[in-house]
Amino acid sequence: MNRIPDRLICPDCASPLRISNDAVSCPACERSFPVVEGIPRFVGQEHLASFGLQWNRYEIAHADEDRATFEAKTGFRLSEMNGQHVLDAGCGGGRYCKVAAEAGAIVTGADHSSAVEKASRLCAHLESVRLVQADLKHLPFEPESFDFVFSIGVMHHDTQTRAVFDAVARMVRAGGRMAVWLYRRNTWPQEAINSFLRRRTTRWAAEKLEPWCRFGAFFGGIPLLKQSLSKVVNFSTHPVWENRVCDNFDWYAPEFQHHHSTAELTSWFDAAGFEDVTVLPPEKTGRFYRWAWRNNLIIGSGVNVTAKKRG
Ligand SMILES: C[S@@+](CC[C@H](N)C(=O)[O-])C[C@H]1O[C@@H](n2cnc3c(N)ncnc32)[C@H](O)[C@@H]1O
Repeated sequence: MNRIPDRLICPDCASPLRISNDAVSCPACERSFPVVEGIPRFVGQEHLASFGLQWNRYEIAHADEDRATFEAKTGFRLSEMNGQHVLDAGCGGGRYCKVAAEAGAIVTGADHSSAVEKASRLCAHLESVRLVQADLKHLPFEPESFDFVFSIGVMHHDTQTRAVFDAVARMVRAGGRMAVWLYRRNTWPQEAINSFLRRRTTRWAAEKLEPWCRFGAFFGGIPLLKQSLSKVVNFSTHPVWENRVCDNFDWYAPEFQHHHSTAELTSWFDAAGFEDVTVLPPEKTGRFYRWAWRNNLIIGSGVNVTAKKRG
């Protein structure tokens, strides 16, 4: 299926691109980008290749859970998506492209990795999903061309989270809304243990890392360990085995993983010209969970903010 967005601009010189079935090309600077499997490819995978492997390998989409997570992590209501132009910045395997498109949005998913191929398969029934393999810092879209922009668990995987944030924020139209979810900075002993472990695991080949991810997934299914050990070393406690293995790989494979505070993220929204800056609570409830979350003790939890671009 052809997944090419209607209007593309050159990521180098910002001229409108000429679109054909096998390439998009710039008449001004004469650069050309291939279209493979109906998706324009502006970049190779580079340091984000582990995500291509991960999203194409694991089946982790669950319609009800993904709809609930979409609303919780964006603050957008599915009922307001109909007919809106929506950008999923860092779409991975496309689970939230699917959610937004099924709610009636015209969705553009952008991702640096070959995960866009999984997104295309997952959204095979949805013609309103367009995709690009591109760097979020150099998107091939006109600034201010989207009504809603969301980015869930993405920007902290780049060399510089803030540079990605600023580039993506430029895509929101005046009066439009943006939501961003980033990894939360934990207490210093947790951060130290995590850095120690990730310094090793990020150098391992997938064949070496995956058995460890399955080992972690086994622990993540044991109730007592879920409550205790997961506060020291990160492993997923998702109820489904395949999600736990995928989550563990997602944590221990990527080269970059920066952690941030709510104050940092809200200040970026302020500086980028947003108002009504709102901190979203975590999806999980329960007094102990919320207490641990407020005290930055939940490893892998988020800082999550939504806001409206000033008109
Ligand atoms: C943890 S995954 C999240 C995917 C999706 N948002 C979800 O929650 O299912 C992070 C994704 O962000 C993408 N990513 C990270 N930095 C990026 C960048 N600078 N440009 C484009 N994609 C990026 C990765 O390739 C990866 O697929």
